[in-house]
Amino acid sequence: MDILVKPQRLARRCERLKPSTIREMLKVTQNPDVISFGGGLPAAELFPVAEISAAQDRVMRTRGASALQYSVTDGVTELREWVAARMRAQHGVAVDADDVVITGGSQQGLDLYGRVFLDAGDIVALENPSYLGAIQAFDAFEPAYLPAESDENGIVPAALERAFANADPLPKFLYLVANYENPTGRTLAAERRPEIVAICARYGVPILEDDPYGEIAFEQHAPPALLSHAANGAVTYLGTGSKMVAPGLRVAWMVIPDRTLREKIVTAKQGADLHSSTYAQYVFHAYVEDEARLRGHLNTVRATYRARRDAMVAALAAQMPAHVRWNVPGGGMFLWVTVGAGIDTEELFEHAVRDGVVFVPGRPFYPHRDRGDGMRLNFSAMPEPRIDEGIARLATAIRHLGG
Ligand SMILES: Cc1ncc(COP(=O)(O)O)c(C=O)c1O
Repeated sequence: MDILVKPQRLARRCERLKPSTIREMLKVTQNPDVISFGGGLPAAELFPVAEISAAQDRVMRTRGASALQYSVTDGVTELREWVAARMRAQHGVAVDADDVVITGGSQQGLDLYGRVFLDAGDIVALENPSYLGAIQAFDAFEPAYLPAESDENGIVPAALERAFANADPLPKFLYLVANYENPTGRTLAAERRPEIVAICARYGVPILEDDPYGEIAFEQHAPPALLSHAANGAVTYLGTGSKMVAPGLRVAWMVIPDRTLREKIVTAKQGADLHSSTYAQYVFHAYVEDEARLRGHLNTVRATYRARRDAMVAALAAQMPAHVRWNVPGGGMFLWVTVGAGIDTEELFEHAVRDGVVFVPGRPFYPHRDRGDGMRLNFSAMPEPRIDEGIARLATAIRHLGG
């Protein structure tokens, strides 16, 4: 019955749309005996189910009809005001509700930004490695990638400057995750942030700052957003309720101080989905508007993930052979392991599945897929004893391959 859908009938961009490695892997993890460090899931047992249920009841009682009606593309006003107030309080940026557009997850923000900026063959500058979901979103617009050299403190400013100086044409934008990055857990050092913003300003390259993890900080606050260092319009900021509260609501936001760009993004969104779920926006707002409740919830999330990170780091130290290296992220949900001993983590993956543990091999996170010695481990989604057991299994698989 698939006569119409011959590959040559599909748009050219589909050639680049491959199923994500992570999604494919989540299929393996349906087996409860397999310990998964592979997904990017928040801890489901921490979701504030009762409070969201109460928020939903309040919304239905007080504004049920509005919550079920079509709405404006930008998003409901109360929520945009909440986002702007939080940005002012946390990052000291002078934004208001008119700078904010509500999206269906920050993943939609990535897609919309790509739609507005990218023609086939355009260049996107990004960290190396970078968030796979962003590469996937941009791939639909057939760009080429300019990977910017990154170290444990994020993008190296001098390397970015060199890359821009040699680029012809210049990238359409720079994409980065400055806090507790996915996949590496790295944070762009505070002192590098104004430098990166200044380099981009010199070359006229806008920045797309994706910040799903900034609120999930363990020891100290994340440094101020790049947005706070930028002249109006140079940085677009993506925030999301997915890791703060729950991803199933699909409530996220773009902060777009550039009015012309904001108009283009809103028009692109209108074409994509008219607007994000009015119902979800009101329910999310009815939950987060109580500042003390949100703070209490975030503190629980931070303390839980921090204990899980500590358990993973302790297990790695106890179990791994000397050629394996990892970092200790200051927040978020992931850490990055470099295996060494010439082991390719895609090959390791096959062995690890047999030993009952999975992770995400590093190669797809590199835009040019040119490094195979890394892996992303998620520590947020399971209790400490499972983390301990999973790392023991992983160490066994590594010893098999690397000796
Ligand atoms: C860096 C990054 N950006 C965006 C997203 C997408 O998040 P959302 O649920 O808001 O679409 C994720 C999800 O894991 C992420 O890690």
